[in-house]
Parts: sequence; structure tokens; C-alpha cells
Amino acid sequence: MESSRWSMLREFIRDPFSTGTVCSSSPSLCRQIASSESLRHADVVVELGAGTGCISKHVLRSLKKDATFISIEKNPALYKTLIAQYSQPYFILDGAENLPQILQQKAIGKADVIISSLPWASFSPELQNQLTQAIRESLRPNGVFITYAYVCGAILPSFSTFRKQLARSFSNVDTSPIVWGNFPPAFLYQCRQPVPVLTDTAKRRALHRSKYSC
Ligand SMILES: C[S@@+](CC[C@H](N)C(=O)[O-])C[C@H]1O[C@@H](n2cnc3c(N)ncnc32)[C@H](O)[C@@H]1O
Repeated sequence: MESSRWSMLREFIRDPFSTGTVCSSSPSLCRQIASSESLRHADVVVELGAGTGCISKHVLRSLKKDATFISIEKNPALYKTLIAQYSQPYFILDGAENLPQILQQKAIGKADVIISSLPWASFSPELQNQLTQAIRESLRPNGVFITYAYVCGAILPSFSTFRKQLARSFSNVDTSPIVWGNFPPAFLYQCRQPVPVLTDTAKRRALHRSKYSC
């Protein structure tokens, strides 16, 4: 669809930091994400940053018939393009930082797989922290978080902050080989065993224990 092809470029010119790319992910990157074994058995799958829906389309083909799929997009113009293309009500106009509340409002429960296209390297450390916390809160303990990054962005200091954030948030982080067929070339992270998010009471208890132990 013509409007879909140009909408990423148009939105990148308007807001480069939040859009993160000039064009949608290539079929090779979408296929690699959709081929994750974790998707085949998942009951609940969430996508963050749908863009024009190229990954959503591939992911939907990999899911069980009765799986629940929702996809969150913050940009109203891209959201409009999405709902014009898809008849099913998969897409939600909202920020990924509100994921726990969205899952609760829709009574979906926690996700087995969360796939992110968010442009991590453009985000401040505070926003990266807020988003990874929302993701950890929304994943089942045996859930999988999949995200990708552009090779060119991986040299930025903000990306190194994100990498540390991932290492703190998940006990197991796997990196894929580079997908050269994407523009720009990209690689995937598949993260397992989310570190539980401590409630304020649990934080106070942990602080108390550390103060009065030894
Ligand atoms: C790099 S693009 C990827 C788009 C598409 N999934 C793809 O792979 O081609 C990042 C997308 O994330 C969206 N986005 C950025 N910040 C967001 C947020 N806080 N919540 C939800 N979506 C966000 C942008 O509007 C954009 O559509």
C-alpha cells in the first residue's frame, strides 16, 4: 500500500527520535523474529512499536489459532495506517510504557512473548528504565522478550546503557547473528528469565534487611 510505504519516512522526518528508522523492517528481519520457537506455543503475544505492521503480519502467521495478539503504537499517523490495513482490532494507540495497565484493562493477563521494535538507542536512560520495567512486569516468569537493534546504533553510548539495562533485567540474554538483509543491518536479542520488579514494600524490606544484616 502506497501510504504505508511512505509513512515511516514521513514520520521519521517529522520525529526521528521516536520513529527510529526511515523504512519498515525487511521481510528477512520480520521472518527471523516470527520464526522464534517461543511464538508457536504462546497464548499471549504483545508487540511494541508496530510501525506499519510488517512484523505484526509475519508474527500473526506463526501464532496458534487461539492465541491473543495485541500491538501497541504511539504514533497516531502510523496507527491510522495500521487500522486502515487490518480489519482485526489488534492495534492499540498508546505508549509501551503503559503496557501493564493495558493488559490489566483488557483482562489479558501476562504475556508469553513480548516483541519490541522500539528505537532504544534514541531513548534517555530514564525512558529505557521505565520501558524495561513495564516489560518485566508484563511478562510471565518463563516468558521471552525479543527486541532488535541496528548495527549502526549499537556504537552509541545510549545503546550501551540499554545493553546494561537488559543484562540487569534478564538472567539470560542471547544475541543473534547480524541480519544483513535488513536496512540498516540489525541483530536480535532474545531475553529470558525476567528479574521480578520489586514493589515499594519489597524494596523497603530489602533495604531494611541489608541495613540490619551482619
Ligand atoms: C523502528 S520503528 C519500527 C516499526 C516496525 N515495527 C518495523 O519493524 O518496521 C519504531 C516504532 O516504535 C514506535 N514507538 C516509539 N516509541 C514508542 C512508545 N513509547 N510506545 C509505542 N510505540 C513507540 C514508533 O512510532 C515506530 O513506529
